[in-house]
Amino acid sequence: EGETLGAGHGKIILLGEHSVVYGRRAIAAPIPLAIQARIEDTREGIDLIIPRWSIEQRLDFSAKRPPSFTRSLARVLEALGLSGRGMRIEVFPSVPRAMGLGGSAALAVAVLRALDAHFSLGLTDERINELAFECEKVAHGTPSGLDNTLATYGQFMLYRSGEQLERQVIEVTEPLPMVIAMSGVESLTARTVARVREAWQRNPGLYERIFDEIDSLVEVGLDALGKRDYETLGETMNINQGLLNAMQVSNWELEELIQIARTHGAVGAKLTGGGGGGSVIALCPDSSARVARAIREAGYHAIEVEVGGA
Ligand code: PMV
Repeated sequence: EGETLGAGHGKIILLGEHSVVYGRRAIAAPIPLAIQARIEDTREGIDLIIPRWSIEQRLDFSAKRPPSFTRSLARVLEALGLSGRGMRIEVFPSVPRAMGLGGSAALAVAVLRALDAHFSLGLTDERINELAFECEKVAHGTPSGLDNTLATYGQFMLYRSGEQLERQVIEVTEPLPMVIAMSGVESLTARTVARVREAWQRNPGLYERIFDEIDSLVEVGLDALGKRDYETLGETMNINQGLLNAMQVSNWELEELIQIARTHGAVGAKLTGGGGGGSVIALCPDSSARVARAIREAGYHAIEVEVGGA
């Protein structure tokens, strides 16, 4: 009874992570991996259960330094007038944790949708997106809003944050054959975002030029996407990776995965999300199976996905 599931989408960033935090555009797409959540009433306290991640705990809101999930949930319950209600929150993730696939935003959206369904709150997507953005702020200070937007709407999108907010749905009729390769190294987006900020503060001129360059790759990539010109789209991904590497958010494992993907037929490969760990995406027209196999043979986890499409 009253057990409705709420879901949030995982995502990849095709082009434009990090520079999107500085008002440039990015292209992102949902992936067929999601997080689901379910709420049940209890007498008191809030229990969080995530079997797949071996998490089972009573949330302690009065702790000295509660983890970011507890802090963002406190904020959300307050905003929704649900503080003090007893509940059990069960979460079923198919998005791996900290793999740069938007897990934290997908988790927030799933829990918000489950709260909405269970307590009949009548929240609009717009409101869910706003609240998920609040959660992202708790998790990493200065988010662009891209993660929560993708987690909420689950659409292929051109995105720009801030005053010139853009949320343009991209029609992709033919799905993109891609491989997602996971480094197994947890990425802490908050850390790489902070790293880029320090470097930008030290050398604003150098970094602004990199951000502008990535924005022009987004422009070219968008056009290539429309024409299904995978060679050019792949090239923009490769150049974007070079610039992410220049920003020092890549690492050894990610570079290895990228080299394996390119040698086995990917037309473009880059890290996705915050970097410093997490995942690589590879555009693989006609080579998905070969690329995925080579990555697995090297001891990493890979999944083949079709991104976009009607
Ligand atoms: O690591 P993820 O999946 O949370 O993606 C982060 C994307 C960044 O551009 C690095 C940060 C942001 O807020 O957009």
